[in-house]
Amino acid sequence: MNANIRRLLEDAAVDRAPSCIDLGCGNGAVCFWLAERGARVLGVDRALPLPPGVPATITGVSPGSVVLVNADVLDFDPGGPFETVITFGLLHSLGSPERVAQVLERIATWSAPGGRLLLSWLLDAIPPAASHAQAHFPPAEVVDGALGRLGFEVVTHWTARLEHAHHCGPAHAHQAVYSSWRRRS
Ligand SMILES: C[S@@+](CC[C@H](N)C(=O)[O-])C[C@H]1O[C@@H](n2cnc3c(N)ncnc32)[C@H](O)[C@@H]1O
Repeated sequence: MNANIRRLLEDAAVDRAPSCIDLGCGNGAVCFWLAERGARVLGVDRALPLPPGVPATITGVSPGSVVLVNADVLDFDPGGPFETVITFGLLHSLGSPERVAQVLERIATWSAPGGRLLLSWLLDAIPPAASHAQAHFPPAEVVDGALGRLGFEVVTHWTARLEHAHHCGPAHAHQAVYSSWRRRS
C-alpha cells in the first residue's frame, strides 16, 4: 500500500466503518488492513482464485471481517448500500469510457447517503509505454464531473507520481489521482 493510499484511508477514518466494499480489490491488501482495524469489508475482483460469484468468508480476521467474491463489478449485485466504497486501480483497468461510466453509476447505487467513496486511478499524463496502447485512462474531469452529477461532493483530491513495475518488467511512472468523496444525504 503506497503512502497516498494510506493517507486516503487514514484521513477518511474508514477503519471504523461498519460496511465497506472494495471494488477491484486485487489481493485484498486494503480489505485486510481495514479489517485489522475493525471494518467489515466485502472485496470484489474478477481475478480472485475462487469459484465465480460465491462469497468466501476469510477466517482468522479480527476485529473486523473480510468476505471476498470472484465477480465482475459490472455483472454483480453486492447488496448494500455500503457506508464506504473503495476502488483503487479499477477505473483504468476497465478498457472503455462506457464501462467507466457504468461502474461510477453502480458505485452511486451502492453508496449510502452521507457515505464515503475513496477512489484512485491512473491518469497516465506521463506518456504511456507501448504496453498501454490499448488501455483507457479516464481523465479526471470526466470522472469528477460524473461523480458530481451522481450526487457526490469532493472531500480531498490530489495527483501524485506513482512508480511501479509489472511482475519482472521495467519500473515506470504514472500520474495517479487520489480522491475522497462524500455522497450527499
Ligand atoms: C490495478 S489492479 C488494483 C488492485 C488493488 N485494488 C490495488 O490497489 O492494489 C486492478 C484490479 O481490478 C480488477 N478488475 C479489473 N476489471 C474488473 C472488473 N470488471 N470486475 C472486477 N474486477 C476487475 C483486476 O482483476 C485487478 O485485480
